[in-house]
Amino acid sequence: MFALRADLLDFVAAPPWGEAFEPGGTAPPAAVRWRPDHWLLVGDDGRIAAVQSDAPDPRWRREEHPGRLLLPGFVDTHVHSPQLGVRASWGTGLLDWLDTYTFPAEGAWADPEVAARGSEQFLDALLAHGTTAAAVFPTVHRHSAAALFEGAARRGMRVVAGKVLMDRHAPDFLRDDVAGAERDCVDLIDRWHGHARCSYAVTVRFAPTSTPQQLAMAGSLCRADPTLYMQTHVAESRDEVRWVASLYPQARSYLDVYASHGLLHRRSILAHGIWLDDHDRAAVRAAGAQLAFCPSSNLFLGSGLFDWRAAHGAGCAVSVASDVGGGTHLVQTRTLAEAYKVQALAGQRLTAWSALHAATLGAAAALGLEHEIGSLEPGRMADIALWDWSAGALDGERMDLARNLHEKAFAWMTLADERHLVGTWVAGRRMYARMPS
Ligand code: GUN
Ligand code: ZN
Repeated sequence: MFALRADLLDFVAAPPWGEAFEPGGTAPPAAVRWRPDHWLLVGDDGRIAAVQSDAPDPRWRREEHPGRLLLPGFVDTHVHSPQLGVRASWGTGLLDWLDTYTFPAEGAWADPEVAARGSEQFLDALLAHGTTAAAVFPTVHRHSAAALFEGAARRGMRVVAGKVLMDRHAPDFLRDDVAGAERDCVDLIDRWHGHARCSYAVTVRFAPTSTPQQLAMAGSLCRADPTLYMQTHVAESRDEVRWVASLYPQARSYLDVYASHGLLHRRSILAHGIWLDDHDRAAVRAAGAQLAFCPSSNLFLGSGLFDWRAAHGAGCAVSVASDVGGGTHLVQTRTLAEAYKVQALAGQRLTAWSALHAATLGAAAALGLEHEIGSLEPGRMADIALWDWSAGALDGERMDLARNLHEKAFAWMTLADERHLVGTWVAGRRMYARMPS
């Protein structure tokens, strides 16, 4: 049992889009829960026991961090475990980038030892960036998914993942086939879905790398167990959209390829969704699926500018994701700052509240996990991250100029990175601690 003293920030609901303040007032919207200089009590069961302003009784071991920021751990809803090494690869758009850099890197994970080592490094890297939960693409190899689940279970981390399905338009060394892939999925689902804090996601890489037969198999897995997730890429780049239209000429749209194979549902995580139309957005909303906005990757690969306002207007759930290694980093604050800039280009102003909500409670709710993660609510798992408000004198001076909580949260979100992270806890266990400087 221990208690952390810090400035607590989390959400109780989705903040109003585009509003930093209560209409007519200066207080943050009611969805924002700001509890400066409070104590968060963590029980031996790894759950948040209470939040209070008074110091707890001496049975609770105390850790005092006054003037630091305590947030729910970030949730990264779309990230590739074998792609840390392809970040920052020069000169290509999505399809060439896959062929030139990404497929060869994923091929190296055919070696189970490489996959095991890489998975450990990846999970530790998430924790060293204040991210405590993620939806992850490993590789086509069944052992890469097993290694990820094993590593997450050992750390007590919440992960959603599955063996990547790809039976065409990929190098031989990365292709599966329908029957073998189905066997691997069934075995992994039996072993890992609902075990520890792991959930299985039927993981279709994207429509071009699966035959219609494989998509049908993936859809039948989802139909057989509605508690399974489905994760994929959709409408990321224009070349890709054109390719999908030529491969699936009968489909109304790229999204419709998934929908018509039973792959669009409440537990679908659709990465990118830049080139969707209103009809698609309505379908995402009707299915209760989520769009994972990946600004770092979208900018880096030159894929396009996601229209969050249109997605919000259509009622779609939107989370934010690093999409490493198309994305160049695992820093969710930087991802949010990039999201702000993408929206600014479209004349929209994303608030810190909408951004931070999308990386915590919003993502948790989109995954149907809001009773487990995403907020500092008693009963939730103590998946939390402690941050400095600033790193260095220059940023400190900037933070001092903030005139209200939104300005402070926004400046923090825009300037903060992993240097600001003091520590990360998963289910109440400290899993990352910054080296004392
Ligand atoms: N589309 C298919 N595979 C990938 C991938 O690995 N990264 C991104 N960003 N898009 C993809
Ligand atoms: Zn991706």
